[in-house]
Amino acid sequence: MPASKEVSGFEALFKVAKIYQKKVKAAGNGAVVVVANEKGGIGKSTITALMAAALAEVGLKVLVIDLDPQSSVTQMLLPNLEKLPSPAIGDLLTSDFDGDNAIFPADVIQEVPAGTVYNSDALGHLFLLPSNPQLGKLNNYLATNINGRQILKFLVKELVIENKALLNDYDLILIDTPSQLDSIFAESALIAGDMVVMPTTPRPVDQWAIAQTIQKIKEAKKVANRSLEIVAAVVNMYDPRSGMVENEGLEAVKAALGDRVVEPPIRSLKTISNSPAKSTSLLTATQAQRPADDFRQTITEVMSRILNRFEQNGSKGGR
Ligand SMILES: Nc1ncnc2c1ncn2[C@@H]1O[C@H](COP(=O)(O)OP(=O)(O)OP(=O)(O)O)[C@@H](O)[C@H]1O
Ligand SMILES: [Mg+2]
Repeated sequence: MPASKEVSGFEALFKVAKIYQKKVKAAGNGAVVVVANEKGGIGKSTITALMAAALAEVGLKVLVIDLDPQSSVTQMLLPNLEKLPSPAIGDLLTSDFDGDNAIFPADVIQEVPAGTVYNSDALGHLFLLPSNPQLGKLNNYLATNINGRQILKFLVKELVIENKALLNDYDLILIDTPSQLDSIFAESALIAGDMVVMPTTPRPVDQWAIAQTIQKIKEAKKVANRSLEIVAAVVNMYDPRSGMVENEGLEAVKAALGDRVVEPPIRSLKTISNSPAKSTSLLTATQAQRPADDFRQTITEVMSRILNRFEQNGSKGGR
């Protein structure tokens, strides 16, 4: 093999994942990463599912928490469902842990079956805490409950069962959030998380949401989650052929987020938009080897940022 051979995306991701995993073992807990952007339809759920799948493939034990009543990531990770899972995240958020009918995380979390769209063969590594539309009915409950926005954090970091909290059981927890960050669910995620990964697009219409998202994170930092930071911004749906406006958009993203923007951007690809119908993902479609490699390079960069932040935050994930 020539010494100058470029490292493949898989090898690069494998390497950073192993370093990260060692730190997790030493710390006794994984990082909790929130995938957030005020704007809808920019690829939060898609990137959450693909990133979780890519990390499970290189051996990390990953839990995806679906905190969106639309249940997109649940439908991506558990395809061909006749109906959405029940119990789901909403039942956990309202569970009376001291009552006879208590529901605990183990009653709700599912392993993503092998051979499905996002799990080719990573058996035992990819898990989902699903949502269903009932979650949408909890707005009032969470708004009026004492510490309503803190319940998710309690569930992930503080509810200890058999000597372990959820974050002790996984290398990485990824939380997919709904688009309006003023929703109580997205706010709960910004309180529960250690750091934020922000997908965005180079489209000029999506730029205003970057400032709004930064503002929301500032608010969460102020009184609830001092160490919360955007560690990586992933530019999605990039189409280099679409010309000036989009390139200006990319520059605007870099101006707003600086070196938090990771390379390469994820291109607008039919293998992504068609993937549920075709039963393959970007990572498994045979015609997408180059873009899949690029995606793994992008996620390698994201993971390096997560690793750095994880080390800075210390062993307790920034609590
Ligand atoms: N890089 C891409 N190329 C092509 N299609 C994409 C790409 N990324 C996402 N999509 C498509 O765009 C649509 C919106 O993506 P997704 O549901 O992930 O966005 P979202 O930000 O989670 O939306 P919401 O705010 O509604 O939760 C989906 O149909 C998805 O398949
Ligand atoms: Mg979504």
